[in-house]
Amino acid sequence: MSLPPGFLDEIRNRVPISRVIGKKVVWDLRKSNQARGDWWAPCPFHQEKSASFHCDDQKGYYYCFGCHAKGDAIKFLREADGMEFIEAVKLLAAEAGLQMPEPDPRTRERTDRRTRLFEVTEAASRWFRLQLQTAAAAEARDYLLRRGLDRAAEDRFEIGFAPDSRTSLTGALREKGFDEALIVESGMAAKPDNGGAAYDRFRGRIIFPIRDGQGRCIGFGGRAMDPNARAKYLNSPETPLFDKGRNLYNLGPARAAVAKGQRLVVAEGYMDVIALARAGFEGAVAPLGTAITEDQLRLMWRVSPEPVIALDGDAAGQRAAQRLIDLALPMTGPGQALRFVILPAGQDPDDLIKAAGPGAMGALLNQARPLVDLLWARETDGQVFDSPERKAALDKRLQDTVATIPDELTRNHYAEELRRKRWELFGGSSRRTERRGGDRKFTRRDRSPTPRPIPSAAAEPLAAGALLEGASLLICALRPELVAQAETRLERLTPVDPDRAALLFDLLSHTESVAGRRGLETLRRDAHLGLTPAVIGSQDHETALAILENLLDRLEAQRAAGSELARAEAEIQGEADEGLTWRMQQIARARHRAERPELEGGADLNEDREALSAQLSQFVDGQIWRKPPRR
Ligand code: UTP
Ligand code: MN
Repeated sequence: MSLPPGFLDEIRNRVPISRVIGKKVVWDLRKSNQARGDWWAPCPFHQEKSASFHCDDQKGYYYCFGCHAKGDAIKFLREADGMEFIEAVKLLAAEAGLQMPEPDPRTRERTDRRTRLFEVTEAASRWFRLQLQTAAAAEARDYLLRRGLDRAAEDRFEIGFAPDSRTSLTGALREKGFDEALIVESGMAAKPDNGGAAYDRFRGRIIFPIRDGQGRCIGFGGRAMDPNARAKYLNSPETPLFDKGRNLYNLGPARAAVAKGQRLVVAEGYMDVIALARAGFEGAVAPLGTAITEDQLRLMWRVSPEPVIALDGDAAGQRAAQRLIDLALPMTGPGQALRFVILPAGQDPDDLIKAAGPGAMGALLNQARPLVDLLWARETDGQVFDSPERKAALDKRLQDTVATIPDELTRNHYAEELRRKRWELFGGSSRRTERRGGDRKFTRRDRSPTPRPIPSAAAEPLAAGALLEGASLLICALRPELVAQAETRLERLTPVDPDRAALLFDLLSHTESVAGRRGLETLRRDAHLGLTPAVIGSQDHETALAILENLLDRLEAQRAAGSELARAEAEIQGEADEGLTWRMQQIARARHRAERPELEGGADLNEDREALSAQLSQFVDGQIWRKPPRR
């Protein structure tokens, strides 16, 4: 229907948005300013106790600072009440005392036709229900009982039966006055190409009526009872009422349940939805025999900001999950997330509930993983990242995938979370691999959650390097704008100390403020680093960066020497080999030189510290920050 220009504006002018929304929320009158048309309430779109939902009568707009739901009165009615656009307009027009414009003849014709089609599907649904009680349906009733569906379940889900006949339904519908063309258009009968008489589409099947969000019957799913049937499920064809990609099975009841605080659970099939709903998970829906579409995702998000996808634990279910990741990422954002439940191999929710009970299902739903976890698992599971090229390939894939997320904040958080996972995977354990001369394959299963201290030979150079590392971290914390420029080098740092590791992680993820982090406080208290703030604070950007790079140069040189030392030690494995002992001494010397270019000869750890302190004070005079020429 086309609305005359200005009609919607007129509605907006006449009906304050707070009047529409006020039917659904309880205003926080202390926070609201009624005179100014400025209203606040706990958000009707997400669970909260505080009032972060704002509504502005002047602008005719609402916005939730928590879940970012926003829109005008029409949008509100569509989202909160599940109305169609035109229904919302009608309701608002009535509220405004405005006459709805007369539909143009073509629109009226189309509406009338749809109304007739709905009459056909409703009649068919009633007829299928009746058939289930007939003698011909004895086998069907047995089948339902075997599957654990009692009379109450039949009633609740309006389960019916299509007898094995080509003419019964079509005949019954014709008797009710529907003509053949209408019956065919509704999808209840098929017309052979050779021009023969239309015949019943559903034959010898258990029937599940499919209703849209407003409870109107738009089509059917039919389950064969014979395990050898050509198609296990047969669904209505696409009709003017039945758009498989834009509807979900059980949407209406699920939306009502979600409004009462239930989760929106997305399963694969009709039987799963029924099993879930009967087990108390009433916010269950399923697509209609096709893979989940973008439209269906949007539909889900209109019901819940975080649907839980519970796909079968078989290969097809896993493939569906993978497809869904790629489909959903370019659409995710605040209030548009997904979680995934991975079912045990070979089970769907129906099987699981039967085998292990609702409690087991609930436990799984509680453990639903966010999309980012599935993405990470998909890119890393079962793979070996034992070369820079493989790691780079992973980085590239992750980067490309994250780049498809349109919402900047969400994208940043994905990057951050993936960086953290990557850190867990490579950060903690890569050195361990190095130490063993790289002979060991490093797979996902080897990961350790926190970087591990490295014992024996490597420990000593690390203790010395810890000061360089500490200085670098402190500088980054004081001047976070340096982080971006030294990012890849900072990523290679692997602090043994968990507080430092956490600080580094925060720095790399560009966390707004690292003030008060334990790692930072410890560094600030370190006497040898005491001068750093003063030194760094007074430098321009270029100089500060050069100082940082100088520290990192030396840390890397020291680390390279350290790992050589460790390798040499590993080679000895207890044998007193003079040649090797000599080599180790040489390496140790080289390390000291790398660490302290201004000092030669042996020195203990305390001297190292003194030296760094001294160096920091020299930074103030701008003497040392320049890179020493490479030897
Ligand atoms: P499944 O094969 O997983 O069946 O199909 P199911 O849901 O476990 O059903 P039961 O327990 O064997 O009865 C999942 C969904 O895929 C669609 C249907 O919508 C079904 O609910 N499907 C499946 C079809 O459309 N056609 C088919 O032949 C099979
Ligand atoms: Mn099943």
